[in-house]
Amino acid sequence: MENLDNLREEIIGSVRKAAGLDALEEIRVAELGRKGRITGLMKGLGGLDPEARRAAGAALNRLKDEVAAALDAEKSRLADRALDAGLERDRIDVSLPIRPESEGRIHPISQTIDEVMAIFGEMGFSVAEGPDIEDDWHNFTALNIPPEHPARQEMDTFYLPGEKDGHRMVLRTHTSPVQIRTMLGRKPPLRIIVPGRTYRCDYDATHSPMFHQVEGLVIDEATHFGHLKGCLIEFCRAYFGVDDLPVRFRASYFPFTEPSAEVDIGCKREGGGLSIGHGEDWLEILGSGMVNPKVIENCGLDPARYQGFAFGMGLERISMLKYGIPDLRTYYESDLRWLRHYGFAALDVPSLVAGPIP
Ligand code: PHE
Repeated sequence: MENLDNLREEIIGSVRKAAGLDALEEIRVAELGRKGRITGLMKGLGGLDPEARRAAGAALNRLKDEVAAALDAEKSRLADRALDAGLERDRIDVSLPIRPESEGRIHPISQTIDEVMAIFGEMGFSVAEGPDIEDDWHNFTALNIPPEHPARQEMDTFYLPGEKDGHRMVLRTHTSPVQIRTMLGRKPPLRIIVPGRTYRCDYDATHSPMFHQVEGLVIDEATHFGHLKGCLIEFCRAYFGVDDLPVRFRASYFPFTEPSAEVDIGCKREGGGLSIGHGEDWLEILGSGMVNPKVIENCGLDPARYQGFAFGMGLERISMLKYGIPDLRTYYESDLRWLRHYGFAALDVPSLVAGPIP
């Protein structure tokens, strides 16, 4: 048993001196492995008489446990030391100046689309889309605008060369063709909005050949003009953030709605400035109406059973009004100084932001 004390001292001593994990593993194999020294001594117990075997067995087991524990302890000490060394090596110098970061901005038109979707989303609308390149049937004819109708001239349409399946192709002049696509492709009840690009040959401070509209369409069996009014009043007040914003419905004409109404909001013009809210003036912001039964019929639905309302508005226009951006053309000039000034931080919550970051 004295031998075991010496052996213990020798092994534990070499464990403490081990240079690394590999050296520890070598010791483990040499002592506790299948052909290790302690394992060998265990095997030798068989030759002893029972009394001596019991005593030596217990002592050997103890030695085995002690060596295993020493190996474990040394292993975790080495790991700690490696971690400390790593931390020391990779220390960060927090006194260094930060690297300048170029932060992107959300374009005001994207922000406006997000806000509009959030408001109508709360009212239960979902988003639909259609192609920018349309045929004249979806863009005009199905919307009750026959070939010789003056509305075709008024819209300053971009026609594409050639025909497809007997139809002239156009850059859609409004998002209304998606009304048709939706009624043809889905079953009522329908409640959709369609934000998207639209095109007209026009260019000045309030017109750009490419601009955006959002269309709205509600179709079911019991929709009436009161729903149209409630929905659009609610939208105008939420979008401009004025709880009691005056909203006026003015009789108008669109071939695809009957009756039709243009919607004005209250405003005040003072010293060249414009503020949305109570005032003596009105500002037109969108077109709307009850879907013309002819349009419902053109889409294969029964106008005696289904009715609804539709609306369409220019997104740049409502964006310019809300954020005080005076010239529509600047939206598409890609001037970074403009975007930094009028753009939005990426984390702004749609519909809850009050205005651009100063
Ligand atoms: N499409 C019309 C326009 O571009 C707007 C509108 C849409 C009017 C839906 C009524 C109903 O002017």
